Amino acid sequence: MPSNWDPQQYQRFSNERSRPFFDLLARVPDEDVHVVADLGCGPGNLTATLVSRWPNATVWGVDSSSDMLTAAAQLPAHSRLYFQQADLATWQPGQPVDRLVSNAAMQWVPDHERVLTHFFRILAPGGVLAVQMPNNFTEPAHRLLAEVVRQEPWASAIGHWQERYFMQTADWYVEALLRLEFVDTEVWETIYYHVLQGPDAVLEWMKGTALRPALARLAGTQHEAFLAAYGARLRDAYPEHAYGTLLPFRRLFFVAKKPRV
Ligand SMILES: C[S@@+](CC[C@H](N)C(=O)[O-])C[C@H]1O[C@@H](n2cnc3c(N)ncnc32)[C@H](O)[C@@H]1O
Repeated sequence: MPSNWDPQQYQRFSNERSRPFFDLLARVPDEDVHVVADLGCGPGNLTATLVSRWPNATVWGVDSSSDMLTAAAQLPAHSRLYFQQADLATWQPGQPVDRLVSNAAMQWVPDHERVLTHFFRILAPGGVLAVQMPNNFTEPAHRLLAEVVRQEPWASAIGHWQERYFMQTADWYVEALLRLEFVDTEVWETIYYHVLQGPDAVLEWMKGTALRPALARLAGTQHEAFLAAYGARLRDAYPEHAYGTLLPFRRLFFVAKKPRV
């Protein structure tokens, strides 16, 4: 997982990145909501919308990144909104959680069987889990990154690092959620066809997320050459048109309820 996030770079495409969050939340019911957690909340701008979505609830944003939480601390304060630094795989709430949301974060965390078991435990009876993860790791943007990091001088410079995500298949989540005895389970995928604006738009998109671990391993003086090598491949794979650059992006969603008894 990236150790150092750049909230500003991440939020450059905030419309495209926030759309799946609202599509996910559209499937989450409203009744009996007192405690809400957004795990892997990032810069907190989406977490803050949950305060008005559930006007009687206390909302917790939890993230492991101090850079992201520094950005969250700059949001307008609200008496029902709190942020906390913790690992989403082990975070313990003070009270059982009625709505547990995790948007675009769980893919960085290993052992989803264990993580889902933990989520089930911290949910209140009748509580709802809502998760979205990117599911596009076989797309050219990631294949080309794997290709570049395998080549010298980058392979040695970044210590033979490779991208690693912990996503399972949609079928796997259906079965895992049923095994845990969640009910009212819905699992679905959506492909967004983003039209990005500006030069090297896909490179700029990747700089906000997947590229961070690679860049963190390179000396600052090597960043430009690495970005030039990767950027040239991306320009061929995702040509810029008069209307912008098309980035197809598949995402996986699930919503499931913990039974009341
Ligand atoms: C792509 S950002 C998504 C942020 C936010 N949920 C959104 O949709 O804009 C992923 C976030 O997950 C956080 N994250 C990754 N692994 C984590 C972990 N084990 N525990 C807590 N947060 C984690 C990162 O620090 C980052 O802020």
